[in-house]
Amino acid sequence: MRIFLDTANIEQVRSAAKLGVISGVTTNPSLISKEGNADYESVIKTICTIVEGPISVEVLAEDVKGMIKDARKASKWAPNVVIKIPCTAAGLEATSVVSKEGIGVNMTLVFSPNQGLLAALAGAAYCSPFVGRLDDHGHDGMQVVKDIVDIYTHYKLSTQVIAASIRHPLHCVTAAKAGAHIATIPYNVLMQMISHPLTDIGISRFMNDWKKLSQK
Ligand code: G3P
Repeated sequence: MRIFLDTANIEQVRSAAKLGVISGVTTNPSLISKEGNADYESVIKTICTIVEGPISVEVLAEDVKGMIKDARKASKWAPNVVIKIPCTAAGLEATSVVSKEGIGVNMTLVFSPNQGLLAALAGAAYCSPFVGRLDDHGHDGMQVVKDIVDIYTHYKLSTQVIAASIRHPLHCVTAAKAGAHIATIPYNVLMQMISHPLTDIGISRFMNDWKKLSQK
């Protein structure tokens, strides 16, 4: 399973990219708004210079024409831009148009296996089921990821599943076990994945033992 960073914060992208474990970035209007920078284009262009992999940019229109216009415009910002389109009737129609033009689509706000199937049939390159938001509503978000992975595998559909709305490290483990191709995770979850108290204790014990030897 590959890991994307789910953020519009440039410093977080820089810092995570240095670790060599990030192969893409996903953004959305809420994440851009959180950074207080309304210049979506410049934020995305900067991120595209830091990470080579797919960088998801969300359309801001809700109608078919507007979504297509947004997708065509943002896809020119950098070669690695992928367009996030919500899973609605308008979103599916827009996806079927722009995917035929060679624009990579990440179908977002996916909450059911049926939406996942439709995303693939419309030509989306990626499909993003929102695990945490389903869990928030008392559903098993990861089961939706697993069901979509199973459907894609069964019918040999090439769309890749991005487990999104990831809230904690255990979500990453279960996404990997469910067969998600990618998990897009917030920076704080990446930091939590790295750290383990036994690693810190182990380093400190090795260093203390080494010091004892050098003091002899
Ligand atoms: O990638 C989708 C993600 O940004 C949504 O996460 O935590 O707002 O449900 P969240």
